[in-house]
Amino acid sequence: MLKLTQIITLMTLNSEQIRADFPILHTEAHPGVPLIYLDSAASSQKPTAVIEAMNQYYRTQNANVHRGIHALSEAATNAYEAARDKLVAFVNAPSREAVIFTRNATEAVNLVAYSWGRANLRPGDEILSTVMEHHANIVPWQIAAEMTGATVRFCPSRPTAAST
Ligand SMILES: Cc1ncc(COP(=O)(O)O)c(C=O)c1O
Repeated sequence: MLKLTQIITLMTLNSEQIRADFPILHTEAHPGVPLIYLDSAASSQKPTAVIEAMNQYYRTQNANVHRGIHALSEAATNAYEAARDKLVAFVNAPSREAVIFTRNATEAVNLVAYSWGRANLRPGDEILSTVMEHHANIVPWQIAAEMTGATVRFCPSRPTAAST
């Protein structure tokens, strides 16, 4: 649950200030046409802080996380776990164990569908989704439904003014 101060912060986001943090948004899509990017679900653009952190990591700490016993691996593991702590606080997660890193949305949805889904779904259960979902959020639920006897149902979407 968001705190009131967090809600106020969200309501007062300054889009120009946020845009200034993303170097790629200072480039042009075509000569004279500023870049506007809306495909964040496929690939998110990175703000300067993230680009610098990635740079710093590859310059000074790059190593196996949780799988090495040398100094670099220890530094990488500490940085990785420190990021988890920050995320726990940022999303107000109930515990460190509640924050699980995955490589992408597809892997995350598959993980939930096959672990939670297979353990909890029963014949007669309904998984509610929408017709607007990307297949990364459809196929894992269809497979989980097949495995458990549940069914997947899709909410239709209304046509927008632009499509009528
Ligand atoms: C709308 C949308 N949802 C989900 C995904 C899947 O995301 P990921 O590549 O993180 O698995 C994509 C990827 O293009 C997407 O465009």
